[in-house]
Amino acid sequence: MSERKRLIAGNWKMFKTRAEAETFAETLRAGWPPQSTAALGATSGLPEAVICAPFTALASLGQALAQSRVRLGAQNLSEHAEGAYTGEISASMLSELGVGYVIVGHSERRAYFAESDAAVAAKTIVALQSGIAPIVCVGESLEEREGERTQAVIAAQLAPVLTSLREYAAAVETPAAALKASATVIAYEPIWAIGTGKSSSAADASAVISFIRAELRAVLGASLADELRIQYGGSVKPENIAQYLAQPDIDGALVGGASLTPESYTALLRQSILS
Ligand code: PGA
Repeated sequence: MSERKRLIAGNWKMFKTRAEAETFAETLRAGWPPQSTAALGATSGLPEAVICAPFTALASLGQALAQSRVRLGAQNLSEHAEGAYTGEISASMLSELGVGYVIVGHSERRAYFAESDAAVAAKTIVALQSGIAPIVCVGESLEEREGERTQAVIAAQLAPVLTSLREYAAAVETPAAALKASATVIAYEPIWAIGTGKSSSAADASAVISFIRAELRAVLGASLADELRIQYGGSVKPENIAQYLAQPDIDGALVGGASLTPESYTALLRQSILS
């Protein structure tokens, strides 16, 4: 099995002005990476850290984090390269700002902005083509879980994404700045656990993530499928992150509320260091 580096991504949602983001970055820089590892050069066990900020904060947050080991992420992008799409933001606009990750298909976007599975698949490919790693979110509602439809719902959400990824991986010509299909990250976020304080048990999250891994293998083949990272998200906090990361098939976390203060976000990162 390939070595997958843990990825701890903060999703700020529609919180923080540019000034607030800069203040956050100042405090974060003082706490991360830990002085001891930086001094020893022992950074191999550190998780990859990403903050997915609102569009308006990206440019200055990128500058504030430039010398740190924290990467810049966005929360959405257009599926189109450019054109008459008022209010949209393209992948090249993001990559110019140094954005390395983008959340795609978050359940809030699916629910409130009618983002379809097909649009999520298109966004995934556009991101990769521009050198931005997509964090593709999937997850079931409480009603779907109680109706024992979790696997069917997730399989349907994944299907167009995986078909597109298979085609993308097989294509001979990709733009020079593009990322490989293996850079894609899947985030399993049960909708009933997002922002509710009700987190999934580690065993339940792990069972669904194993199912997702099996779906990936079926479409992409085992060697590519095993390179993709799969995160858990939904009420992850410094107090509970260790139990998820203890599951061998959970490669990190996508965190909303607990990423909003530098103290809490740094605590999540510290809990994720591999000893
Ligand atoms: P939460 O949000 O950590 O506040 O539950 C997670 C997410 O929506 O990505």
